[in-house]
Amino acid sequence: MSIELIQRGYRLFAPLYDLVFGASLAPGRRAALAALDCRPGERILEVCVGTGLSLQLYPAGVRVTGIDISRDMLRKAEGRVAARRLAHVEALLEMDAQHMTFPDGSFDKAALMFALSGLPDPVRAVNEIRRVCRPGGTIVIAQHFRTRNAWLRLCEGFLAPIYRLLRYRGDMDLERFLAAAQIEVLEQRRVNLFGYATLLVCRNQAPRAAAEHRYVAAPQSARSAARAAGGVTDRVG
Ligand SMILES: C[S@@+](CC[C@H](N)C(=O)[O-])C[C@H]1O[C@@H](n2cnc3c(N)ncnc32)[C@H](O)[C@@H]1O
Repeated sequence: MSIELIQRGYRLFAPLYDLVFGASLAPGRRAALAALDCRPGERILEVCVGTGLSLQLYPAGVRVTGIDISRDMLRKAEGRVAARRLAHVEALLEMDAQHMTFPDGSFDKAALMFALSGLPDPVRAVNEIRRVCRPGGTIVIAQHFRTRNAWLRLCEGFLAPIYRLLRYRGDMDLERFLAAAQIEVLEQRRVNLFGYATLLVCRNQAPRAAAEHRYVAAPQSARSAARAAGGVTDRVG
């Protein structure tokens, strides 16, 4: 999955993004922001901020920085910030979530919504989020993970062409991700229509060494075995 292909996908899809994923993902964004429980004066990082659909949900008094790899998506976010005069948005920056340029502990809290499975190395991105957040801070992740529910699989099938364009994995496995990321999850619940997505409310543990694990999808044929075994951790290096 190359960054250039992801950027090209979002360049094509940016004009339609809000129409397709605006209202449909809004309950998950609201739940994630409520779980973040922002307090006045806090510095918040929103990773993969996209067109900035969540930016108006932050309370006044916080300072929000958004990053995204797609200039086309960021341009829409900038328009939204200007049109709604969102003074709490400090910066919108073009940056790769897997290689952030912020110093350690720059933020109190962070949110990553509906973007994890589109990242070439999601565990690396989560490690970066942990690095730039202070220890003990809250990190919320909202994401659709693979489901066995027949109705939700129908939704996956319907969205498959868009997922392909955006280089988005529609079948990311939650257990494999958690085993690889080793992040402390305080709360996990279903959000969005039909519970299509999962909200993970996490606490940032003390800083740790660079990633030892990465998320690797199970080969198609091995998936049922892996599921039966409760997920597998893939160690690299
Ligand atoms: C499905 S959109 C989600 C946008 C927003 N969080 C929302 O709730 O609508 C995924 C976003 O992740 C961004 N993205 C993909 N790969 C990235 C990377 N490596 N670093 C930063 N942003 C990335 C895309 O450009 C896109 O804006």
